[in-house]
Amino acid sequence: MAKVVIFSGAGISAESGLSTFRDADGLWEKYRIEEICQAGCLSWNRENTLAFYDARREQLTSVKPNTAHYALAKLQECYPNDIDIITQNVDDLFERAGCKDVLHLHGFLPRLRCEQCGATQIIGYAKQERTFTCKNCGGSFRPDIVFFGEAAPMYEHLYEAMEDCQFLVIIGSSGNVIAMDHFALHVKHSILNNLEKSDAINERVYTKVLYKKATEAVDEIVGDVERFLG
Ligand code: APR
Repeated sequence: MAKVVIFSGAGISAESGLSTFRDADGLWEKYRIEEICQAGCLSWNRENTLAFYDARREQLTSVKPNTAHYALAKLQECYPNDIDIITQNVDDLFERAGCKDVLHLHGFLPRLRCEQCGATQIIGYAKQERTFTCKNCGGSFRPDIVFFGEAAPMYEHLYEAMEDCQFLVIIGSSGNVIAMDHFALHVKHSILNNLEKSDAINERVYTKVLYKKATEAVDEIVGDVERFLG
């Protein structure tokens, strides 16, 4: 596994025009989690849930990666075996910036998953055809997104990556869902980059804290990682 882990949340996509969840104008100010992002909502609120993810998927056609995504893609290209890009985000901005092997912990908007056999199908930015069924088992599809209260199988790859991590970078995550502080305590170097303090993060456990936009912090972050990798 890589020596450097770049862990991100919605904040790194904010400057591309995608809403975060808990900031002032965040998604959870406009939508009720229990209606469209909670285990079981596809059974009692199916059409509203599918429509919510159709709209977020379609929104990807109107946004582009920002300089933070591109800077991290360039860093990963220079050090292909030393950088793991792990994100809570379900957008494809890292991929469109050129990042490889991005680990999406909470799923991926352009992908559907069969509710019966788990087979996945990439649909890009299209609306999910409600009659579209699984070629493998004939089952019904759902957005390949991890809802609150559902299993998040990719987390084991985060834990694996953190076993070898010596330099942890957090960009744009409030820490409300995945607490990374305890990982920061066990690495040589750690950088926290958010817009402002978060009640869910103890900034004192990070060796460097940058409260500024990701696009303004990324050059310093890249410089520190390059000096560490040598
Ligand atoms: N640059 C850097 N950080 C930013 C920027 C920016 N331009 N804009 C916002 N931020 C920071 C905020 O300061 C905040 O700490 O991004 C963070 C966004 O926090 P959340 O909205 O809670 O998003 P996130 O941490 O990704 O949420 C985690 O919660 O709802 C679930 O599954 C969803 O993956 C998501 C998870």
